[in-house]
Order: sequence, then C-alpha cells, then structure tokens
Amino acid sequence: MKFSITLQPDNHTLTAEVGETILEAATKHGLQLPRGCGDGACGLCKGNVLQGTVDHGKSTEIALSAEERAAGKVLFCCAKPTSDLVIERREMSSSWDMSDWDAQAY
Ligand code: FES
Repeated sequence: MKFSITLQPDNHTLTAEVGETILEAATKHGLQLPRGCGDGACGLCKGNVLQGTVDHGKSTEIALSAEERAAGKVLFCCAKPTSDLVIERREMSSSWDMSDWDAQAY
C-alpha cells in the first residue's frame, strides 16, 4: 500500500510506502527537505500537514509541542503517512537550517 504526498507550494507529488517517513519518501524521490538530526529532536524538519493524517512516530515534545501537533505541524523525519497527504514545507529561512547553507552557491 502506498500513500500520495503532495508538497505545497510547488504542487510536487510523490508516494510513500506504509511505514516510511515523509522525509524518507522525499529523499527517495530526490527532493531536498529541511533536515537536521533525522531523529525527532532538533525540529529543523518541521512542516505543516494541510490535509490527511500521520503517525508522529518518535517525535519528541521538545521538537514538536502538543500545541504544534494540534495545529497540524509534524516533523517530516518522524511522521509516517496514514492517509494521502498534502503538506507544506517550512520556509528555509533559519540561519541554523543546513538546507539553506547547502543552497548557497559556495
Ligand atoms: S531532522 Fe531533527 S527533528 Fe527532524
């Protein structure tokens, strides 16, 4: 079984196997999403689920508060789709975001 994941704002669509995290699925499809620890602790991969449901997996309260979960935020490194999803990736504007660093032309 597979779930469809549509990324906003670019409307890119990919699929995730059951039990696969959003980050794993994106990486498998060659998409770069913000990431840090990859283990639910730093919060750099945080994004929004606009439609659908996820299993938050090993997300920690430090990186993703109960209030954020209630507001639809997830950690892409931990969240596993339990339905088709529409997600919004976080703007990569933090100076601590390694994806920003990688995107710069050095
Ligand atoms: S990459 Fe650190 S919480 Fe997801």
